Amino acid sequence: MDKFIIEGQTPLRGTLAVSGSKNAALPLMAAALLADSPTTLQNIPRLNDIYTFNNVLRVTGTLVNFDEAANTLVIDPANLSFPESPYDLVRKMRASFYMLGALLGQGGYAKVSLPGGCAWGPRPVNLHMEGLKAIGAEITMDKGYVIAHAPGGRLRGGTIRLNPSSVGATVNILLGAVKATGRTVIENAAREPDVVLLCKALNAMGAQISGVGTDTLTIEGVSGLSGITFTNAPDRIEAGTYMIAAAMHPDSDLLITKLDPQDLGEFTQTFKQTGVTLEFADDSVRVKAPEKLIPVSIKAEIYPGFPTDLQAQWATMLTQASGKATVTDHIYYDRFSYVPELGRLGADAVLTENTVAIQGKTPLQGASVMSTDLRASVSLVMAGMVAGGTTEVLRVYHLDRGYENLEVKLNAVGAKITRVAE
Ligand code: EPZ
Repeated sequence: MDKFIIEGQTPLRGTLAVSGSKNAALPLMAAALLADSPTTLQNIPRLNDIYTFNNVLRVTGTLVNFDEAANTLVIDPANLSFPESPYDLVRKMRASFYMLGALLGQGGYAKVSLPGGCAWGPRPVNLHMEGLKAIGAEITMDKGYVIAHAPGGRLRGGTIRLNPSSVGATVNILLGAVKATGRTVIENAAREPDVVLLCKALNAMGAQISGVGTDTLTIEGVSGLSGITFTNAPDRIEAGTYMIAAAMHPDSDLLITKLDPQDLGEFTQTFKQTGVTLEFADDSVRVKAPEKLIPVSIKAEIYPGFPTDLQAQWATMLTQASGKATVTDHIYYDRFSYVPELGRLGADAVLTENTVAIQGKTPLQGASVMSTDLRASVSLVMAGMVAGGTTEVLRVYHLDRGYENLEVKLNAVGAKITRVAE
């Protein structure tokens, strides 16, 4: 297991490019199974989660060719003959559960392992299953696997109201509904850009989805879909991570390119309240840190609210703000495993239920800290870059799931990060 050795107090200055979105790519890859011909996906990042999902697709007999140098993925489902997703792969990456809707939508049968939990606690999938049942799926459980059939080989339209609004459930129901017979309506659907992009891709394949971008999606089932060439979105969470990192050292002045500012939702307005200077162009933002960072409290909510995937990064930034602020997560109540690790670096952070209160500005001192999940890990790297002395971040395989070339990108703009194989 690799670790990072980070020499702190380095401002970030220069230009850094954002890679393709992990959370937008995974639904697109699942959607490719629904087509009667190959699909080419561009701007696909070289991330462990992508490699894992490539293998999940290959298990079914689907041909997957990843041109890593070109970040291009070709998926050909012509030989799809084994509609199953095994536990040893699904447990590594819960989005593999999208295979349930994709395999049901394509061939009317799926045997997919339940994903299990993750680092910060239970991640239920009841809404996925209730939603697919509402469009005709017959579902049984057997030894940790979900076994689903579409009577007569094809799902039928129905109406689902999601509570809470769930990205994954919205994706899975869309994958099942686009080739069902009749009309499906998803109420309180997720509106994240990842879902919007999936709807656009499915419609380009021949699906008939209306209400795209709203919380009510109406799908008129069609009999077949064609493969497409489609470009994945930039990773809005990677972009937000680097924007926040650039606010943490007063001398930072970072140009972040290849992002889509529209995907940031309310994050941008909230970020401006900290005193950072933001100069947006159509696919870039220049972030100049303020001399004194203003503490701003946030509540993580569904899109377009503040993303839960940026709350750990925000809390880490607050250690360098002048005053007290809080971070509350209404999406995942226990997504705070990074808090004790920040404490090891000297942060004044007190967790009460699903809210952490941070008192800044506290000078952080380097120490050894443990990665626990993807976004917590990147927060510890951000802390190490402003801490005095040396910080050792262990188990950086978590980072390799969601940040392409993280240390290469950050070192190119002034960080001092060394990856060491353990
Ligand atoms: C997606 O997870 C993302 N993952 C997560 O990003 C992200 O944190 C999350 O959406 C919220 O934005 C991918 O896109 C691969 P949800 P997902 O279903 O779909 C509850 C990262 O760091 N819920 O929208 O699993 C659930 O407990 C990852 O890149 C149910 O109750 O999230 C949560 O409170 C981490 N029943 C809320 O809904 C269900 O059946 C939102 O979860 C499903 C979800």
